[in-house]
Amino acid sequence: MPLMLWTEELSVGIEEFDADHRQLFAMVNGLFNAFEVGTGAELLGALFDALIDYTRDHFAREEARMAACHYPGLSTHRAEHLQLAERVHELRRHFLAGSVEQVNRDLLVLFKTWLTSHIRVTDHGYKPYVIDRPAAGHQCAITLRDHTTR
Ligand SMILES: [Fe+2]
Repeated sequence: MPLMLWTEELSVGIEEFDADHRQLFAMVNGLFNAFEVGTGAELLGALFDALIDYTRDHFAREEARMAACHYPGLSTHRAEHLQLAERVHELRRHFLAGSVEQVNRDLLVLFKTWLTSHIRVTDHGYKPYVIDRPAAGHQCAITLRDHTTR
């Protein structure tokens, strides 16, 4: 059983972000596996860095979309992203300092608890504001106000 399991109830209603979240889950699971089978520090470091890079890019995509949609919760949401990024960078420093096993454990716990609750609560907050309408060709589809008046 994978550490992180994406289920339909985690969907934020935007395929691009659901795909990002599934990919993040897969990357955390990959890192967990690598840790379990005793992968060397070099490969662990590469997986770690890939996860950090993907998380950063995903946060940027979400924030750009929220900004385009004038989502009022953007600054709170961004602060949560920043908090995780800072914590992960702290762990990366510890990793470089050689505490490989501890860092892997901390990183996996951090992602498992933080990511799932962030998606369930914080990401779901933007759902009504950022609706996927690819047919309309809009980056930001509609705002809640538009949505409720239609
Ligand atoms: Fe988010």
